[in-house]
Amino acid sequence: MQIDIITIFPEMFAPVLGASLIKRAVQAGLLRIRVHDLRDYTSDPHRKVDDRPYGGGPGMVLMPQPIFAAVEDVRRDCSAHAGRCEVVLMTPQGESLSTPLAQQLAITPHLVLLCGHYEGIDERVKVLVTRSVSIGDYVLTGGELPAMVLVDCVARYVPGVIGHAQATEEESFAEGWLEYPQYTRPASFRELEVPEVLLSGDHGRIAQWRKWQAMSRTLAQRPDLMRQRQP
Ligand SMILES: C[S@@+](CC[C@H](N)C(=O)[O-])C[C@H]1O[C@@H](n2cnc3c(N)ncnc32)[C@H](O)[C@@H]1O
Repeated sequence: MQIDIITIFPEMFAPVLGASLIKRAVQAGLLRIRVHDLRDYTSDPHRKVDDRPYGGGPGMVLMPQPIFAAVEDVRRDCSAHAGRCEVVLMTPQGESLSTPLAQQLAITPHLVLLCGHYEGIDERVKVLVTRSVSIGDYVLTGGELPAMVLVDCVARYVPGVIGHAQATEEESFAEGWLEYPQYTRPASFRELEVPEVLLSGDHGRIAQWRKWQAMSRTLAQRPDLMRQRQP
């Protein structure tokens, strides 16, 4: 999978994309990630990429020219991916990032992520955009952190990135439940005990206990997920 990220703060990405699971996926050739500085695409001699909003109001808006130039440049690679390319605008006004959306994006060969900043981007950029995605109902300073969240979330569903496929099948939200509680050694810590069933070696009882725990904590903490489950 190829991911191109267009941003005015390219330096923000190295610490996140150069560590942990994403780093390993890139090294293994499962992901190819390129971060592009929007300022490299502006026709302004002072590398300006923003201007004041028409109609007045606070802040600055990212201009269409550099964004069009950047997207058109990185999309040239789309022919190498049979034309299957999603141009994703990170915006608090988009559809919410969720497990089903991440799974859908993970089978797209080429993702182009657009990070807004300041007051946002010129609305005319929307003609390039195939999806708008939000990471939650709050407003951040820029689209860089949302893009990193999306890359991390999507990468987990790219085949081969997570060693055990079972890890994503049993985790929270996978089947509309929250995950059951997890414990590791020692079995007793400061008089806090691991539930006896997990030490029993009885896989049938363990599976039943985990299912019950997942259901009861979902009901207690996220009853909305229970309502969304298919009967
Ligand atoms: C300060 S925000 C602009 C918010 C915009 N004025 C509005 O009210 O919808 C600047 C940029 O941060 C990014 N951003 C902020 N919050 C986000 C969120 N919850 N999800 C995705 N992107 C977000 C977007 O790229 C946005 O263009």
